[in-house]
Amino acid sequence: MKQASLQNNIFYNGDCVTGAREYLPDNSVDLLITDPPYGIKGDQLHKHYNRNEEFVIGGYVEIPQKEYADFSTAWIKEAERVLRPGGSLYIVSGYTNLVDILNALRTTCLREINHVIWKYNFGVFTRQKYVSSHYHILFYEKPGGVRTFNLECRYGLDEKTEEGKSLNNFDREDVWMINREYKPGQAKNKNELPTKLLIKMIQYSSNEGDLVCDFFLGGFSTANVAIGLNRRATGFEISRQMFDAKSKEIETLNPGGLISDLRNPTVSTLENFGTPWTDEEIQRLKEGFLQLADKGMTKAKMVAQLGEAHGRGRFAIVNALKKINCYNRIKSPSTTLDKFS
Ligand SMILES: C[S@@+](CC[C@H](N)C(=O)[O-])C[C@H]1O[C@@H](n2cnc3c(N)ncnc32)[C@H](O)[C@@H]1O
Repeated sequence: MKQASLQNNIFYNGDCVTGAREYLPDNSVDLLITDPPYGIKGDQLHKHYNRNEEFVIGGYVEIPQKEYADFSTAWIKEAERVLRPGGSLYIVSGYTNLVDILNALRTTCLREINHVIWKYNFGVFTRQKYVSSHYHILFYEKPGGVRTFNLECRYGLDEKTEEGKSLNNFDREDVWMINREYKPGQAKNKNELPTKLLIKMIQYSSNEGDLVCDFFLGGFSTANVAIGLNRRATGFEISRQMFDAKSKEIETLNPGGLISDLRNPTVSTLENFGTPWTDEEIQRLKEGFLQLADKGMTKAKMVAQLGEAHGRGRFAIVNALKKINCYNRIKSPSTTLDKFS
């Protein structure tokens, strides 16, 4: 298989199933982000999108609809094998053949974490029905290890909007609104994934130095962003035309070059964040709760005060109070609670 490389990042021009079998050892990949052909005549995608095709690189290889199910099973089996235990998999898919991908995933040990909806701008043109403007992103893990999920990599848990809403929570909701990139005058794949979308998946689900793989490199967007964030990258692209055009661009990349543009989150410094509760601490929580209840404090204030006292975040306090049957005794944020005995 023809190869291209940037330092230790090797990319292969060929089929991902045979290529993975030959070049990727078991349990070697930390994060696999991939966007397989949609089985809807990708070479005619331009008919659905109102854009100038002059700069789209030819040679996009589509999977015929009748082969889609078997093909999905074959590559997803390889994904299962190469991921390390605890490794993450993101599959971007349209709706048409999503069922084949879900069925293939169900034949593996891979476990669903989230089904994300990616909403983009300028949907497919229609007149007699609603405008289709989303893709599916299936987020799975290989069980058996510790999954990387960098909770505060983009927004600290305590960071809020002016209206007091949690920025961290908003960023982690499972509907993502990220616009597709309009790249006038630049050579590109038929449907390149936006940099912002890739940054988000790579930041949350990998660390610097981790190996990020893409089985369907297309315009090498996953590889570009992974290298830009100081991860290692590898992957496959079957089209010679695409591979030759895009692997040349990789050679000019600056590893880590995207890092200085990232937002610096204000990370919470809670003393006991993530540590298990001890029986003694639960007892103290209950006592503290009873004292504040006596004072007739509001729900929000109680939770905040208990959080400070225990060096824990709001969710940890609320969950612990629920477990000891205290939380639901608070009637509303502005009223006092029933006497607790
Ligand atoms: C949807 S595109 C990927 C786009 C890519 N995520 C990007 O941002 O540019 C799918 C790509 O998979 C390639 N492809 C099709 N069959 C393949 C196979 N068996 N192995 C590797 N690549 C394949 C196609 O040529 C196409 O470039």
